[in-house]
Amino acid sequence: MESQLDYHTAKALLEWQIELGATEAICDAPINRYEAPAPKPAKAPVQAAVAQPVKVAQVDPVDEAKTAAAAAGSLEALRAAIEAFDHCDLKKGARSTVFADGGAQARVMVIGEAPGADEDRQGRPFVGRAGQLLDRMFAAISMARDATDAEKAIYITNILPWRPPQNRDPKPDEVAMMLPFVERHIELVAPDVLVLMGNHSCQALLGMRGITRLRGNWAEAAGLPAMPMFHPAYLLRNPQAKREAWHDLLMLQARLRGG
Ligand code: URA
Repeated sequence: MESQLDYHTAKALLEWQIELGATEAICDAPINRYEAPAPKPAKAPVQAAVAQPVKVAQVDPVDEAKTAAAAAGSLEALRAAIEAFDHCDLKKGARSTVFADGGAQARVMVIGEAPGADEDRQGRPFVGRAGQLLDRMFAAISMARDATDAEKAIYITNILPWRPPQNRDPKPDEVAMMLPFVERHIELVAPDVLVLMGNHSCQALLGMRGITRLRGNWAEAAGLPAMPMFHPAYLLRNPQAKREAWHDLLMLQARLRGG
C-alpha cells in the first residue's frame, strides 16, 4: 500500500514508536498467534541442595584430659601430654609450660595455684618472691626442693601449668580440664602427704575454699593426707599470718616423723 505520508513525517513517526518501546515492525501479513505452538513450560528451577548441618564431633576437654593423663606412664610422658594439650586457652598466652620442680622421690608434694610472671619466664614453679618465701618456710623445717634425700626433699607443682593473664584467678573450666593431669601427677609422684597452698588449690583438690578455716587441719585429697596452708603470696601481704604458717609446718613435720 502506498503511504500518504512524506518521508520526514514517516521517519518522525517511526522514531516516536521506537521511543515508546516498539522493537518490531508489523508484518505485511497478520500472524495467527492461536496456531503458534504453545510455549514450552519453563523448566522447574533446579532445587539448590539444602545444606545439611555439618556434624562436628563435640570434644569434651575434660574427657580428653582424662584420656591423655591416664595414658602417661611416667612424669616425662605426663609433661609431654600437658605440653600437647591444646584445649586450655591459657597455653596460647604463656611462654612456658610450668610442670614441676624438686625431687620426685619427695615425701611431700606442694601444690600451688598457677605460675606468675617469674615462673612463666623461667619455666619453673615458685621462683618469684612468693617462691623464695616458700623455700625459706621449708628450709625452716630442713626441707628443700633441691634436697637429694627423700626425707628432706619437696616436690612442687601447680594446679595450672600456664600463667593466667594479668595473674587473674583460674576459671573453673580451666581448673576442671587440668585437674586430671594434676591427679595423675600425684599418682606418679606418689608422695606421703600433700601441701595445698591457698584457696585455689583447696578448691580444686578438696572441693572447698575458705583457707582461714581449712588451714592447719589435715584433710584428704586424691586419697592422701593433705595439709591446707596459707599461700606464701598471702603471707607476703599479711606477715602476721606467718605464725599460723609456722604452726602448720610443724604439724607437717610431726606427721612426717610419724607423730
Ligand atoms: N604462685 C603459685 O601458686 N604458683 C607459682 O608457681 C608461683 C606463684
